[in-house]
Amino acid sequence: MIKLENIVKIYNEGKANEVKALRGIDLTINDGEMAAIIGESGSGKSTLLNILGCIDIPTGGAYYYDDINTSTLSGKARAEFLNRKIGFVLQDFGLMLDRSVYHNISYPLVFNPHIKSSQIKEKIKSALLSVGLPRYINSVCGELSGGQKQRVAIARAIVNEPSMILADEPTGALDTKTSAEIIELFKSLNQQGKTVIIVTHDPNVAQRCHRIIEISDGKIVSEQE
Ligand SMILES: Nc1ncnc2c1ncn2[C@@H]1O[C@H](COP(=O)(O)OP(=O)(O)OP(=O)(O)O)[C@@H](O)[C@H]1O
Ligand SMILES: [Mg+2]
Repeated sequence: MIKLENIVKIYNEGKANEVKALRGIDLTINDGEMAAIIGESGSGKSTLLNILGCIDIPTGGAYYYDDINTSTLSGKARAEFLNRKIGFVLQDFGLMLDRSVYHNISYPLVFNPHIKSSQIKEKIKSALLSVGLPRYINSVCGELSGGQKQRVAIARAIVNEPSMILADEPTGALDTKTSAEIIELFKSLNQQGKTVIIVTHDPNVAQRCHRIIEISDGKIVSEQE
Protein backbone atom coordinates (compact mmCIF):
# COMPACT_ATOMS: atom_id res chain seq x y z
CA MET A 1 0.00 0.00 0.00
CA ILE A 2 1.19 3.50 -0.68
CA LYS A 3 0.13 6.53 1.25
CA LEU A 4 0.81 10.20 0.56
CA GLU A 5 0.18 12.71 3.32
CA ASN A 6 -0.01 16.39 2.49
CA ILE A 7 2.62 16.17 -0.26
CA VAL A 8 3.85 19.55 -1.43
CA LYS A 9 6.28 20.18 -4.27
CA ILE A 10 7.70 23.62 -4.88
CA TYR A 11 10.18 24.14 -7.70
CA ASN A 12 12.72 26.97 -7.38
CA GLU A 13 11.53 27.75 -3.88
CA GLY A 14 11.99 31.36 -2.80
CA LYS A 15 13.06 32.46 -6.27
CA ALA A 16 11.24 34.69 -8.75
CA ASN A 17 10.40 31.62 -10.85
CA GLU A 18 8.97 29.62 -7.95
CA VAL A 19 6.22 27.13 -8.96
CA LYS A 20 3.93 25.38 -6.47
CA ALA A 21 3.43 22.23 -8.51
CA LEU A 22 1.73 20.18 -5.76
CA ARG A 23 -0.24 21.87 -2.99
CA GLY A 24 -1.07 19.19 -0.47
CA ILE A 25 -1.82 15.78 -1.94
CA ASP A 26 -3.38 13.12 0.30
CA LEU A 27 -3.73 9.80 -1.46
CA THR A 28 -3.84 6.12 -0.59
CA ILE A 29 -3.39 3.46 -3.25
CA ASN A 30 -3.90 -0.16 -2.29
CA ASP A 31 -1.94 -3.09 -3.64
CA GLY A 32 -3.38 -4.36 -6.89
CA GLU A 33 -5.18 -1.17 -7.87
CA MET A 34 -5.15 0.24 -11.38
CA ALA A 35 -5.48 4.01 -11.20
CA ALA A 36 -5.40 6.84 -13.73
CA ILE A 37 -4.20 10.33 -12.93
CA ILE A 38 -5.76 12.93 -15.20
CA GLY A 39 -5.72 16.73 -15.36
CA GLU A 40 -4.80 19.67 -17.56
CA SER A 41 -1.31 20.28 -18.81
CA GLY A 42 0.78 21.80 -16.02
CA SER A 43 -1.57 20.56 -13.26
CA GLY A 44 1.20 18.50 -11.63
CA LYS A 45 0.59 14.97 -12.94
CA SER A 46 4.19 14.17 -13.88
CA THR A 47 5.44 15.81 -10.69
CA LEU A 48 3.15 13.54 -8.68
CA LEU A 49 4.18 10.42 -10.62
CA ASN A 50 7.86 11.25 -10.24
CA ILE A 51 7.40 11.57 -6.49
CA LEU A 52 5.51 8.25 -6.42
CA GLY A 53 8.42 6.72 -8.34
CA CYS A 54 10.94 8.27 -5.95
CA ILE A 55 12.76 9.93 -8.82
CA ASP A 56 11.86 13.28 -7.28
CA ILE A 57 11.65 14.28 -3.63
CA PRO A 58 8.75 16.30 -2.22
CA THR A 59 9.32 19.68 -0.59
CA GLY A 60 6.93 18.73 2.21
CA GLY A 61 4.68 15.94 3.43
CA ALA A 62 5.29 12.22 3.78
CA TYR A 63 5.25 9.28 1.39
CA TYR A 64 4.91 5.81 2.88
CA TYR A 65 5.42 2.65 0.84
CA ASP A 66 4.37 -0.45 2.79
CA ASP A 67 4.85 1.60 5.97
CA ILE A 68 8.38 2.60 4.99
CA ASN A 69 8.77 6.36 5.08
CA THR A 70 10.56 6.83 1.75
CA SER A 71 12.27 10.01 2.94
CA THR A 72 14.31 7.87 5.33
CA LEU A 73 15.80 5.88 2.43
CA SER A 74 19.09 7.06 1.08
CA GLY A 75 22.04 5.84 -0.89
CA LYS A 76 22.13 2.11 -1.45
CA ALA A 77 18.86 1.37 0.36
CA ARG A 78 17.05 3.89 -1.81
CA ALA A 79 18.57 2.56 -5.03
CA GLU A 80 17.67 -1.00 -4.06
CA PHE A 81 14.14 -0.01 -3.06
CA LEU A 82 13.62 1.71 -6.41
CA ASN A 83 15.12 -1.13 -8.35
CA ARG A 84 12.97 -3.80 -6.67
CA LYS A 85 9.65 -2.11 -5.99
CA ILE A 86 9.02 0.30 -8.83
CA GLY A 87 8.96 -0.02 -12.61
CA PHE A 88 8.80 3.31 -14.40
CA VAL A 89 7.62 3.79 -17.99
CA LEU A 90 8.76 7.22 -19.11
CA GLN A 91 6.80 9.59 -21.34
CA ASP A 92 9.15 9.37 -24.34
CA PHE A 93 10.06 5.69 -23.71
CA GLY A 94 13.50 6.66 -22.38
CA LEU A 95 15.21 3.96 -24.44
CA MET A 96 18.77 3.98 -25.74
CA LEU A 97 17.78 3.92 -29.39
CA ASP A 98 21.16 2.89 -30.79
CA ARG A 99 21.29 -0.15 -28.49
CA SER A 100 19.55 -3.50 -28.72
CA VAL A 101 16.31 -4.50 -27.04
CA TYR A 102 18.39 -6.92 -24.95
CA HIS A 103 20.73 -4.18 -23.77
CA ASN A 104 17.90 -1.79 -22.86
CA ILE A 105 15.98 -4.37 -20.85
CA SER A 106 19.10 -5.69 -19.13
CA TYR A 107 19.76 -2.33 -17.52
CA PRO A 108 17.68 -2.70 -14.32
CA LEU A 109 18.87 -6.31 -13.90
CA VAL A 110 22.51 -5.34 -13.95
CA PHE A 111 21.82 -3.09 -10.95
CA ASN A 112 19.95 -5.78 -9.04
CA PRO A 113 22.43 -7.54 -6.75
CA HIS A 114 20.07 -10.52 -6.37
CA ILE A 115 20.25 -11.42 -10.05
CA LYS A 116 23.07 -13.63 -11.26
CA SER A 117 24.46 -12.88 -14.71
CA SER A 118 23.43 -16.37 -15.81
CA GLN A 119 19.77 -15.45 -15.13
CA ILE A 120 19.72 -12.25 -17.17
CA LYS A 121 18.88 -13.68 -20.59
CA GLU A 122 15.98 -15.79 -19.29
CA LYS A 123 14.54 -12.81 -17.41
CA ILE A 124 14.73 -10.65 -20.54
CA LYS A 125 13.08 -13.36 -22.65
CA SER A 126 10.30 -13.74 -20.14
CA ALA A 127 9.68 -9.95 -19.98
CA LEU A 128 9.58 -9.80 -23.80
CA LEU A 129 7.11 -12.66 -23.88
CA SER A 130 4.88 -10.80 -21.40
CA VAL A 131 4.77 -7.75 -23.67
CA GLY A 132 4.24 -9.79 -26.84
CA LEU A 133 7.64 -9.21 -28.47
CA PRO A 134 9.40 -12.56 -28.08
CA ARG A 135 11.30 -12.35 -31.35
CA TYR A 136 12.81 -8.89 -30.96
CA ILE A 137 15.54 -9.51 -28.42
CA ASN A 138 18.37 -8.61 -30.79
CA SER A 139 16.64 -5.74 -32.62
CA VAL A 140 18.01 -2.21 -32.36
CA CYS A 141 15.47 -0.08 -30.48
CA GLY A 142 15.67 2.82 -32.95
CA GLU A 143 14.35 0.50 -35.68
CA LEU A 144 11.15 -0.41 -33.84
CA SER A 145 7.72 1.18 -34.28
CA GLY A 146 6.30 3.44 -31.56
CA GLY A 147 4.11 0.68 -30.16
CA GLN A 148 7.02 -1.77 -30.14
CA LYS A 149 9.25 0.78 -28.38
CA GLN A 150 6.56 1.23 -25.75
CA ARG A 151 6.42 -2.55 -25.28
CA VAL A 152 10.20 -2.63 -24.79
CA ALA A 153 9.91 0.22 -22.27
CA ILE A 154 7.26 -1.81 -20.41
CA ALA A 155 9.42 -4.95 -20.56
CA ARG A 156 12.25 -2.98 -18.98
CA ALA A 157 9.88 -1.71 -16.28
CA ILE A 158 8.70 -5.23 -15.36
CA VAL A 159 11.89 -7.24 -15.78
CA ASN A 160 12.77 -6.96 -12.08
CA GLU A 161 9.21 -7.97 -11.17
CA PRO A 162 8.39 -4.77 -9.26
CA SER A 163 5.16 -4.58 -7.28
CA MET A 164 4.20 -1.21 -8.76
CA ILE A 165 4.32 0.08 -12.33
CA LEU A 166 4.13 3.80 -13.02
CA ALA A 167 3.59 5.13 -16.55
CA ASP A 168 3.60 8.73 -17.74
CA GLU A 169 1.42 9.16 -20.84
CA PRO A 170 2.21 5.67 -22.12
CA THR A 171 -0.11 6.07 -25.09
CA GLY A 172 0.59 9.73 -25.84
CA ALA A 173 2.56 8.99 -29.00
CA LEU A 174 0.50 6.03 -30.24
CA ASP A 175 -2.48 5.60 -32.56
CA THR A 176 -5.85 4.50 -31.19
CA LYS A 177 -5.45 0.79 -31.95
CA THR A 178 -1.93 0.56 -30.55
CA SER A 179 -3.01 2.57 -27.48
CA ALA A 180 -5.78 0.06 -26.83
CA GLU A 181 -3.26 -2.81 -27.05
CA ILE A 182 -0.88 -1.11 -24.65
CA ILE A 183 -3.70 -0.52 -22.16
CA GLU A 184 -4.68 -4.19 -22.40
CA LEU A 185 -1.07 -5.02 -21.60
CA PHE A 186 -1.19 -2.84 -18.47
CA LYS A 187 -4.50 -4.48 -17.58
CA SER A 188 -3.01 -7.94 -17.80
CA LEU A 189 -0.05 -6.89 -15.62
CA ASN A 190 -2.58 -5.54 -13.14
CA GLN A 191 -4.48 -8.84 -13.26
CA GLN A 192 -1.21 -10.56 -12.38
CA GLY A 193 -1.29 -8.55 -9.16
CA LYS A 194 0.75 -5.47 -9.92
CA THR A 195 -0.34 -2.01 -8.86
CA VAL A 196 -0.54 0.18 -11.96
CA ILE A 197 -0.70 3.98 -11.98
CA ILE A 198 -1.03 5.73 -15.33
CA VAL A 199 -0.89 9.45 -16.08
CA THR A 200 -2.99 10.11 -19.15
CA HIS A 201 -4.78 12.74 -21.21
CA ASP A 202 -6.79 10.06 -22.98
CA PRO A 203 -10.32 9.44 -21.62
CA ASN A 204 -10.32 5.97 -23.24
CA VAL A 205 -7.26 5.04 -21.21
CA ALA A 206 -8.63 6.51 -17.97
CA GLN A 207 -11.92 4.64 -18.47
CA ARG A 208 -10.07 1.31 -18.46
CA CYS A 209 -8.73 1.98 -14.94
CA HIS A 210 -10.60 1.16 -11.71
CA ARG A 211 -10.08 4.58 -10.34
CA ILE A 212 -9.68 8.03 -11.88
CA ILE A 213 -7.90 10.70 -9.84
CA GLU A 214 -8.17 14.21 -11.26
CA ILE A 215 -5.72 16.89 -10.31
CA SER A 216 -5.94 20.60 -10.98
CA ASP A 217 -3.38 23.20 -9.99
CA GLY A 218 -1.54 20.78 -7.74
CA LYS A 219 -4.55 19.43 -5.82
CA ILE A 220 -6.81 16.41 -6.14
CA VAL A 221 -10.17 17.82 -7.22
CA SER A 222 -12.14 14.66 -7.93
CA GLU A 223 -12.04 10.91 -7.68
CA GLN A 224 -14.16 8.38 -9.53
CA GLU A 225 -14.26 4.67 -8.91
N1 LIG B 1 11.92 20.69 -13.08
C1 LIG B 1 11.05 21.71 -12.97
N2 LIG B 1 11.47 22.94 -12.62
C2 LIG B 1 10.58 23.95 -12.49
N3 LIG B 1 9.26 23.85 -12.69
C3 LIG B 1 8.80 22.66 -13.05
C4 LIG B 1 9.66 21.52 -13.21
N4 LIG B 1 8.90 20.45 -13.58
C5 LIG B 1 7.64 20.90 -13.65
N5 LIG B 1 7.56 22.22 -13.33
C6 LIG B 1 6.34 23.04 -13.26
O1 LIG B 1 5.43 22.41 -12.37
C7 LIG B 1 4.09 22.46 -12.86
C8 LIG B 1 3.55 21.05 -13.00
O2 LIG B 1 4.29 20.39 -14.02
P1 LIG B 1 4.04 18.88 -14.43
O3 LIG B 1 5.12 18.50 -15.36
O4 LIG B 1 3.87 18.07 -13.21
O5 LIG B 1 2.63 19.00 -15.20
P2 LIG B 1 1.79 17.89 -16.00
O6 LIG B 1 0.44 17.87 -15.36
O7 LIG B 1 2.55 16.63 -16.06
O8 LIG B 1 1.66 18.55 -17.44
P3 LIG B 1 1.65 17.84 -18.91
O9 LIG B 1 0.27 17.28 -19.07
O10 LIG B 1 1.87 19.01 -19.83
O11 LIG B 1 2.72 16.82 -18.96
C9 LIG B 1 4.16 23.24 -14.18
O12 LIG B 1 3.84 24.58 -13.90
C10 LIG B 1 5.61 23.11 -14.59
O13 LIG B 1 6.03 24.22 -15.32
MG1 LIG C 1 3.47 15.57 -17.64
